[in-house]
Amino acid sequence: MKNSIIIGLVAVGMASISLVSFAQDKEGGKEMMKEALKRNDAGELLLPDANDYRTWVYVGTPVTPNDMNNGKAAFPEFHNVYMDPVSFAHYKETGEFRDGTTLLKELVSVGSKAAVSGNGYFMGDFIGLEAAVKSSKHHADEPGNWAYYSWTNEGKQPLKDTAKAFPTAACNACHDASAAEDYVFTQYYPILRAIMAEKK
Ligand code: HEC
Repeated sequence: MKNSIIIGLVAVGMASISLVSFAQDKEGGKEMMKEALKRNDAGELLLPDANDYRTWVYVGTPVTPNDMNNGKAAFPEFHNVYMDPVSFAHYKETGEFRDGTTLLKELVSVGSKAAVSGNGYFMGDFIGLEAAVKSSKHHADEPGNWAYYSWTNEGKQPLKDTAKAFPTAACNACHDASAAEDYVFTQYYPILRAIMAEKK
């Protein structure tokens, strides 16, 4: 029994070592962290497969409905936020967002406002997808090396095939001014807050 626990622990240890080495990408003599999403030659991010990123680590779902914002919320939908698993493992270990961290925010409309459980906000349909990516390689000039992308197709489906980085002022500036930790709104992600609480 004891032996099998030890073998199990060694196996888990080896698996995490190989995960970390998988995340390294040698380029120009410098170790760069590999990103979770693919890019085309122009540096645009390719639309990821939903069945893939929905298995990433889920960190929280903020919602800013229209009817709590004078009928006109800036982002009137649910935001399901996922973090790539290699970066999550690193965050758990160090409390930091590693170079290469990718956060995806899936936009879901506010659907029904009543259920057998009571009145509330219930998720409707998938309407968009955005990303926040920290990359010293691709975003060397962006504050914190973070850049922001969207495949959202003005409320229509399907989503766009590729997404290019927004200018700094469009996205990064607000994240810089108001996000709790390294441009990420961890104040609204209880799963990441729980890790930070453990570290303190
Ligand atoms: C006015 C401020 C503001 C602007 C401008 C803004 N965001 Fe955000 N963003 C937020 C807030 C607040 C959250 C967390 C709560 C939420 O999602 O409602 C967030 C969360 C995110 C997340 C999830 C990861 C994270 O960093 O917390 C992504 C991805 C994202 N935004 C993408 C974008 C993109 C793309 C743009 C530009 C088109 C943008 N944001 C512009 C305020 C902003």
